[in-house]
This record gives sequence, structure tokens and C-alpha cells, in this order.
Amino acid sequence: MLTLTEIAENPLRLARRLKAHDGPELVFRPLTRADTGHLAGFLGALSSASRRLSTFDGYDLAAAQELCDAIARYDKLRLVLEEVPSSRIVGLLELSLALTPADIARYRDAGIRLAETTDCRFGPTLADDYQGRGVGTLVCPLVAEVVRLLGRTRIILWGGVRADNPRAIRHYEKNGFRPVGSFTEADGSLSLDMMLDLSPLPDPSGP
Ligand SMILES: CC(C)(COP(=O)(O)OP(=O)(O)OC[C@H]1O[C@@H](n2cnc3c(N)ncnc32)[C@H](O)[C@@H]1OP(=O)(O)O)[C@@H](O)C(=O)NCCC(=O)NCCS
Repeated sequence: MLTLTEIAENPLRLARRLKAHDGPELVFRPLTRADTGHLAGFLGALSSASRRLSTFDGYDLAAAQELCDAIARYDKLRLVLEEVPSSRIVGLLELSLALTPADIARYRDAGIRLAETTDCRFGPTLADDYQGRGVGTLVCPLVAEVVRLLGRTRIILWGGVRADNPRAIRHYEKNGFRPVGSFTEADGSLSLDMMLDLSPLPDPSGP
């Protein structure tokens, strides 16, 4: 099982190349400290619509610096999609290995017992010009592979998904997430909890 420290020491072990059918080559890899400037560019370019659907503490260089400073210090693993050859960051895929009491309570109400030995939280954000092109779906198996390497077997949505975000809901559904329940945000809006069960990988020694 991989630890966050081991990943930070050798981020390239998780790097994968992928190609969107209508775009340049992309590299999927962990965020590194050298990414601060490009990450600030990514955050700063997010439209107000994207910021409403996927909220960060800030969208400037200081916010990017904070995310880079957090590498291997807490429970988070942040992965990026980097466009080749521009080096532009066009996606941020966030995993948290910690659960909140609110997550645990909501899922318990839905009859699901969450545990930090099995579950992790996931939140994806693509650059505006990369949304709705199937890139999120290309990345999903790569995220699942990382989650397995971290020793977890289920993924829940980090903070849920807003009920008025039909593209994200469709995206999660088609990638195997199932709806678990709904809850009301502090502003009165509705969000959905969704969960992905990672099926066990086939046994290589099997028939
Ligand atoms: C959510 C997100 C990661 C999904 O990645 P993506 O690459 O855009 O998604 P995909 O293209 O793989 O899938 C989107 C699906 O939604 C469908 N879709 C698009 N707009 C839709 C709409 N208004 N209503 C219903 N379905 C819609 C697409 O047709 C596609 O389904 P299909 O392949 O069956 O045709 C990305 O859109 C994103 O970053 N959005 C902004 C931030 C965000 O919402 N993050 C998630 C917070 S929970």
C-alpha cells in the first residue's frame, strides 16, 4: 500500500499519459511543489460558473501556494492533468483520505457505514474549455487505480454534488457512482451524495 509521503517522494510512479480524442496529449500525475505558478493559472482562469460548482479557498497564487505547501502534510492527495507540451494545468483531481463526522452521519442515515480503512473522498475540477469532452471519464479509471494503491476500496464525492449540476451527476452515473441520498447545503440548496464501489481487480493467478 502506498503512502502520501512515498507518493510525494516519487510522484512520477503515478504519472500516466492520456489522449483526449479531440485534444492534445495530457499527463495525469500528482501535484508537485513546482506547480504553484501553473496551478495559480488554472485556478485563476476558472469561470464563476465553475467556481460555484467546485469551490476552492481561493483562486490566486496564494491559494495555489497553499495547495502545494499541503503536499504530504495532511490527508490530501491532489492530482493534476497537464497539457503537453504547453505544461498548462487543465484539471485538478482531489482525493482526501479523511472523512468528516458529517459525511459519516449522512451515509449512516442511508445505511452505509463509512470507514477511513475503506473510503476516501474525491472532487474533480476541469478547466472550462476541457469540460464536457469526455476527459473526466478518461481520468476516472486512473483515479480508481490511485485509490486502490492507497488501499481504499470505495470513493465518495467530496462535499457531494449540487443537484443543479446535471453534467457532473451524469458524469458520475456513467462512471459507476450510485446515488446514496441528498442533503441541504448551508445556503438552502440541495446536494447529492454519490458513491463508487471499486470492484476487486481480477486475480492474475486465476483461470
Ligand atoms: C464534472 C466534471 C469533472 C465532469 O467531467 P467531464 O469530462 O466534463 O464529463 P464527461 O464529458 O466525461 O461526462 C459528462 C456527461 O454529461 C452529459 N451532459 C453534459 N451536459 C449535461 C446536462 N446539462 N444535462 C445532462 N447531462 C449533461 C454529457 O453529454 C456526458 O454524458 P454522455 O457521455 O453520456 O453524453 C467536469 O465537467 C467539471 O470539472 N465541471 C466543473 C466543476 C464540477 O462540476 N466539478 C464537480 C463538482 S461535484
